[in-house]
Amino acid sequence: MSARVIDGKRVAEALRGEVAARVAALETRHGVKPGLAVVLVGEDPASKVYVANKARQTVEAGMRSFEHKLPATTSEGGLLSLVARLNADDAVDGILVQLPLPSGLDATRVIEAIDPAKDVDGLHPMNAGRLMAGIPALVPCTPLGCQKLIRSALGDLTGLEAVVVGRSILVGKPVAQLLTADNATVTLAHSRTRDLASVCRRADILVAAVGKPLMIRGDFIKKGAVVIDVGINRVPAPELGEGRTRLVGDVAYEEAAATASAITPVPGGVGPMTIACLLSNTVDAAMRRRGLSVKA
Ligand code: GUN
Repeated sequence: MSARVIDGKRVAEALRGEVAARVAALETRHGVKPGLAVVLVGEDPASKVYVANKARQTVEAGMRSFEHKLPATTSEGGLLSLVARLNADDAVDGILVQLPLPSGLDATRVIEAIDPAKDVDGLHPMNAGRLMAGIPALVPCTPLGCQKLIRSALGDLTGLEAVVVGRSILVGKPVAQLLTADNATVTLAHSRTRDLASVCRRADILVAAVGKPLMIRGDFIKKGAVVIDVGINRVPAPELGEGRTRLVGDVAYEEAAATASAITPVPGGVGPMTIACLLSNTVDAAMRRRGLSVKA
């Protein structure tokens, strides 16, 4: 193995430190303590863990955390009326409705009901459109985390070939927009792409966000590429004992690491960046709502 491991935990810790310093300055200079509301509907075990981590890290950064846990039987009207209350609450600067929602609730309608100025997930069409237009926007957290890790590995991305595998609204499309804005030449590949391996082999920067365990193999990697693995897939691991599981990414790590120059591990790569970027977005939202300028 030759690749350097990109330590997402360390980069995320540094970002959380910056966020805490901005929160402290906002409170001292303007008497503002940003607040983040997280809404969890139902009992999805992974979502419960994510939401608990978000709440803890919000408080650790010096902000207010408002947790709203609703039963899986909540009606869309009930959820929309909570969103309306959070939109109107001046103590709330950021609103995140944890996805996926239980069946019967339409995530698109719920996201469209969030005030775009408080949409710290960056999923409202207004923010997606602003990102595409190159206007300051709240940007989805995982893509923002990917961009920060890529910049930390490579510095200036001008003229580099980037291939993003996966075209979701949560990750693939916004990552492609961010890397385009950083002057990379971006190809957005997906499940219908012909000869995916040869498309990937063009990439100086390869971002895998497909949600298919170990789909990106060693022979997809150009020598010296930087590989960002967004996948978090739980798979059976009989080698650890009967009934045991483990987390793997979308990239066959050992194979890719033999050819790449730098690679994110799973876990400990992109994952820790997501919440750190959520906290950063919450401070940005708190500042913009009050007409204070936010650094680009
Ligand atoms: N579930 C998994 N990732 C995310 C995310 O980035 N935002 C929201 N709201 N839900 C998620």
